[in-house]
Amino acid sequence: MMNYLILLVIAMCFGLNEGKCFTNILELQNNLSPGSILKVNCSSNKGDVEPVHQVKLNVRYQIVVLEWGWGDRVVFRCLLRHGRKMEYSQTIWRAYRAAAEYRCGEKRSWIAKADGIYLVRNGEPKGLKYPWVHTKK
Ligand SMILES: *[C@@H]1O[C@H](CO)[C@@H](O)[C@H](O)[C@H]1NC(C)=O
Repeated sequence: MMNYLILLVIAMCFGLNEGKCFTNILELQNNLSPGSILKVNCSSNKGDVEPVHQVKLNVRYQIVVLEWGWGDRVVFRCLLRHGRKMEYSQTIWRAYRAAAEYRCGEKRSWIAKADGIYLVRNGEPKGLKYPWVHTKK
């Protein structure tokens, strides 16, 4: 009876985890300044091309990423732009990089602020990662 109960509990835990964990998320967030628009376009080494998105202040733009596993890593890169003439920009070459083995429930959040782009990895703040590149227009 006891063994049966333990098995049941284990089965339930696995069942719940499976239900929650089937995708990964690449997120881009605009934390610039009131009225600012963050323009984002991302693409992957697997041929995914996301069209340009205009992300308003305090909005999160999310892309669902499926990892392939078997050493076949999907890598997303993103171009972020802002400013009156979109004169501030930066390309994040490894905005999301899959592991060699299949994973789920991973989250990379890139937060655009006035002084640069910050990373939050699975909810853990990693600090300022990229400055803005200013191009005269
Ligand atoms: C974003 O779009 C620009 C302009 O179409 C393009 O040159 C660039 O390669 C794109 N970047 C990414 C990461 O998809």
